[in-house]
Amino acid sequence: MATRTQTRQSNRSTSSRGSSRGDQSENRSSSENRSSESRSAFSWGENAGPLLGAALAGVAIGFAANYGRKALMQGMEAAAGDWDEILAAEHDMALAIFDKMLATDETQTFKRKMLLMKLTHALDKHAHQEEMVVYPALREANQTTDADQLEGEHGYIKTYIYELNEMGPASPTWLEKVREFRGLVSRHAHMEEEEAFPTFKQALTPEQNARITSLVNRDGFWMA
Ligand SMILES: [Fe+2]
Ligand SMILES: [Fe+2]
Repeated sequence: MATRTQTRQSNRSTSSRGSSRGDQSENRSSSENRSSESRSAFSWGENAGPLLGAALAGVAIGFAANYGRKALMQGMEAAAGDWDEILAAEHDMALAIFDKMLATDETQTFKRKMLLMKLTHALDKHAHQEEMVVYPALREANQTTDADQLEGEHGYIKTYIYELNEMGPASPTWLEKVREFRGLVSRHAHMEEEEAFPTFKQALTPEQNARITSLVNRDGFWMA
C-alpha cells in the first residue's frame, strides 16, 4: 500500500520635535537646554493629541485584525488534530503551492512571485513550529540524529528560496529549480511523516502528545 507521501509524489516625529525646539529661547542656560531637550523628546505639541489617539487606535485595530486573522488561520489548523496531523496538513498545503508554481510559464512572472511569497511564508511558519517544538522534543527522546538531519534540510529549503529569489521568475531554469525544490520538500516530509514522527509519537503518553500539540498550535499562532 502506498504511503501517504508516496501517493502525493506526483517616528519619531521630527516636525513636532522641531517646532517645540523653535519655541525655546536661545538664551537659556545649558542645563535648561538639556532639560527642555529631554522634555522635547517626548513632546508632541498641542495638536498632536488627536493624531496620536488616531494612530494608537489604528495600531489597536490593526492588532485586533491580525489577531483575528491568526485565530482564524490557526483555529483551522487546531481543528486538524494532533501535532503530527497538523504538520502533515501543512506539508500537503506546501506541496499544493509547488504544483501551482509548476503549472506556470515564464510569462506569468507576477503569479510566480506571489506563489513564491506564499510558499516562503508557509514554509517559514512550518519550520518554526518544528525547530522550536518538535525537533527539540525529538532530541529529548534520543532521536538526535533524526532531528539534526531534518533541521539541516531546513537550511537547504531556505537555500532554494534564496536561489529562486535571486534568479527571478522569468529565468529559463526557474521551473527546473522549483521541481528540484519540490523533490527535497517531498522527501523531507516523507521522512517526517513515515519515520521520525511515528517513532517519536508511539513513545509519547497521551499527556505528552497533547502538550506537543498545544505547543505547536501556540507557536503556529504567533507565526501565522
Ligand atoms: Fe521539517
Ligand atoms: Fe515538516
